[in-house]
Amino acid sequence: MSIDIKVVFPNVYDAAKIVNYMEQIGKESDFLSFGEEGPQMTLSKEIGYIQHLQEENTKSFMLLFKKGEEIVGITTISIREDRPRMSHFGILGISILKKYWGLGYGNFLMEETLKISKERGIKKINLEVRTDNERAIKLYNKYNFEIEGKIIKNTFINNEYFDCYMMGREI
Ligand SMILES: CC(C)(COP(=O)(O)OP(=O)(O)OC[C@H]1O[C@@H](n2cnc3c(N)ncnc32)[C@H](O)[C@@H]1OP(=O)(O)O)[C@@H](O)C(=O)NCCC(=O)NCCS
Repeated sequence: MSIDIKVVFPNVYDAAKIVNYMEQIGKESDFLSFGEEGPQMTLSKEIGYIQHLQEENTKSFMLLFKKGEEIVGITTISIREDRPRMSHFGILGISILKKYWGLGYGNFLMEETLKISKERGIKKINLEVRTDNERAIKLYNKYNFEIEGKIIKNTFINNEYFDCYMMGREI
């Protein structure tokens, strides 16, 4: 599929846009670990995180998907770099601005993220997804993620508990 978005690793000049993006998707989706309150990420924390990702031996990464200068989606692969026993796997985070949902961008983000994960020698990707997030589960199934477990009452939103699946795939 040809999609007119470019894929870049973030630099510190993207930090403010990333903070704004995270605040916006928190308002647009109930399927994330944060909501309207945002991820509580300050500009200086975001800059620090980007600098950490730029260090030579860091396997964790973030990809920005941009249409012109607008960030339309972000993926992250987070690795416990400080724990050699656990640094073979990464935890996937994926989101897209609501106005671009359902247009095939999710497929594109997933393919790019799997490609870079493989290049970095990551052996497995794990993720957590709300059991009622049909759109995301469909995307994960399509890319061969399998349900490996279920956590009951994983999030609490507007006085309601939601379960999540643990999903994973080897790469
Ligand atoms: C989940 C998310 C990344 C998917 O991205 P997307 O661009 O909307 O998905 P795509 O258009 O690429 O579609 C991916 C698959 O989901 C399916 N899908 C799309 N809309 C759907 C819907 N409303 N219901 C069920 N499945 C749907 C598509 O059929 C597609 O499979 P196909 O290519 O075989 O047809 C995006 O919707 C999002 O950011 N949601 C909010 C945040 C979130 O839930 N993140 C995941 C947390 S675990």
